[in-house]
Amino acid sequence: MSDDLRIKEIGMERSRVEGALKVTGRAPYAMEHGAGHGVQEPLHAFLVGSTVSRGRVLAVHADEVRGSEDVVAVLDHTNAPRLADTDDEEYAVLQDDEVHFRGQVVALVLATTSEAAREGARRVRVEYAAEPGEHVFDEDSEGDEPEKLNAGLPPSGSTGEPDLALASATHVLDETYRTPYMHNNPMEPHATTALWDLGPDGAELRCFDSTQAAHSVRSTLARLFGIEAGRVHVEASHVGGGFGSKGLPHAHNVVAVLAARSQPGRWVRLAVTRQQMFALTGYRTATISRFRLGAGPDGVLGVISHDVVEQTSRCKEFAEQTVAPTRHVYAAPNRRTSTRLVRLDVAVPSWMRAPGEMPGSFAQEAAMDELADLVGLDPIELRRRNEPEADPETGKSFGDRRLLECFDRGAERFGWSERGPARSRLEGDWYVGLGTAASVYPAYTQPGNQARVLAEPGGYRVEIGAVDIGTGARTVLRQIAADALDVDLDAIDLRLGSSDLPIASVAGGSSGTSSWGWAIVAASRTFRAQHGTSPEPGDESVAGPPKKPVDEDYALHSFGAQFVEARVNRFTGEVRVPRMLGVFSVGRVVNPKLARSQLVGGMTMGLSTALFEESWRDPRFGHVVTDDLATYHVATHADVRDIEAAWLDESDHRANPMGLRGIGEIGITGAGAAVASAVTNATGVRQRSIPVTPDKALGWE
Ligand code: MOS
Repeated sequence: MSDDLRIKEIGMERSRVEGALKVTGRAPYAMEHGAGHGVQEPLHAFLVGSTVSRGRVLAVHADEVRGSEDVVAVLDHTNAPRLADTDDEEYAVLQDDEVHFRGQVVALVLATTSEAAREGARRVRVEYAAEPGEHVFDEDSEGDEPEKLNAGLPPSGSTGEPDLALASATHVLDETYRTPYMHNNPMEPHATTALWDLGPDGAELRCFDSTQAAHSVRSTLARLFGIEAGRVHVEASHVGGGFGSKGLPHAHNVVAVLAARSQPGRWVRLAVTRQQMFALTGYRTATISRFRLGAGPDGVLGVISHDVVEQTSRCKEFAEQTVAPTRHVYAAPNRRTSTRLVRLDVAVPSWMRAPGEMPGSFAQEAAMDELADLVGLDPIELRRRNEPEADPETGKSFGDRRLLECFDRGAERFGWSERGPARSRLEGDWYVGLGTAASVYPAYTQPGNQARVLAEPGGYRVEIGAVDIGTGARTVLRQIAADALDVDLDAIDLRLGSSDLPIASVAGGSSGTSSWGWAIVAASRTFRAQHGTSPEPGDESVAGPPKKPVDEDYALHSFGAQFVEARVNRFTGEVRVPRMLGVFSVGRVVNPKLARSQLVGGMTMGLSTALFEESWRDPRFGHVVTDDLATYHVATHADVRDIEAAWLDESDHRANPMGLRGIGEIGITGAGAAVASAVTNATGVRQRSIPVTPDKALGWE
């Protein structure tokens, strides 16, 4: 497939084209659009969150607030504009008196200054008829089987006779592995600036939104507000990260537009505060995985069984695909996966970098590490003996699966042969250990993308409604466009970040570059076919990849191997990670500089989850109490030492014309298990959960 695509700009190290704008503060984010962008004298909105987790709103007392200077309006369920579609309980805000979780939006104050809006929101008094809610998810939670997991995956599946095979296995591992609640914390909190514009031809909705998917915000808002999608204009020129939390619209998008709808012709600015993000913009559910592995004397697996219990909100189902990696990474004739979902009166979970794959691969890789100990094999050797010839779940070929090569290269470069038995290395007051784990992530290409190529004097404008959330999409798409049109980079004027541009899928699922890049290649080919190599300015073509872009004969995945050195203080249990290396097989790398940022970024987030990230829910009220960056710890510079990412030199022609497989999420998978493996090797205390806090590291827990 890649044969006829020029590979010249693709593969070159290029700096982000918008880098200078960003570091000089000139790249406008959703909240920063002012008069220069037509945003005149915006009103400021501030949200009021419910203080009960279940029940009804009896009354919202806001007369005094309404009467105060600078306050323009107070909206609640009695006076907010009505939505055309209220099926989705997360989006049906201010539509009725029901409360589904603590922190749910129950009112909003609009004022001419942000201070007045915030102060007003503080003074709104809400009366509730509270009902007892359920908020606890733990070992005793039963749950039930959801119909489907995310990505449409089945919740359970079974091959062979797992129970019989376990009963006859030489080595049997039966342990429980846990991952905690985690919250996405992109640097830029979620924000929307919205205008309900009453023109002579009817209403137009304009938004500057911090989103990973301008087109999906557009279609969702159009549906909810009952207007044509073509009348909704969503712009997201610069976005300060999302990690999945901006992959779908959330309640704040709807409330901002409700506010704008109530004040036609006035811009409304709404920023979700860092604290409010912990209730309103999604999170990763905690998971409890029972893993059973049965192996013969040589460590060859006869059975893999993974039963997970996780949690969702009662008002909207979100079923993390935690069992997904278990289905694709190791071979065994007898296999079982199952998922149970516990429904609670809590905030709605959503996507967080490698949803499912991250917690699921933690459980699987930690279990494999433990099995290696049980069998008495090196952890890499155990994986070598269980390398499948085809995808265990579907029997399809992986195409090019080079997991073992990643392990071997990484082992060599990291000095894996120096790893000793558990608790065998004490340097000063620090136990030192090495660990490893596999990374895995599917290679997705989203259907339905389109791009436009337009000839301009001296070059080409290339348009696609994709969003660059900080990944470097603007830069790599420009490189792909240059090769696709066979012109210099300077001849490409790449436009993205708006729903007024050709339709583009979410910057998520590590599918952006493959899906959008392919659309650009398709549009370029169409352009050349229609207009040749000497077009007139104004000539244009719009096209996208085939309807079913993915070759269904293959189970395309990216793989990787991560290596970690952990040091654990023998008195305090403090864990430090001085060295971390990931070697990845991700298809062709379009831009080494930006790819390294993505892979190291994923590994850094993985390190962060391995050592720190954990949200604590108050069992009585159901809200997250660690709702700021002082109590929800993310890794900082001092925690991140020597993290290196390397990759194999390859191109996967089965994936797309560029030969790439996506790199945004694979770095976080396997990182946590590699840290747990290293700490186990350092201290001799088996780590079955993250974060590896000092008490767990030394076994005081
Ligand atoms: Mo990512 S969690 O697929 O936006």
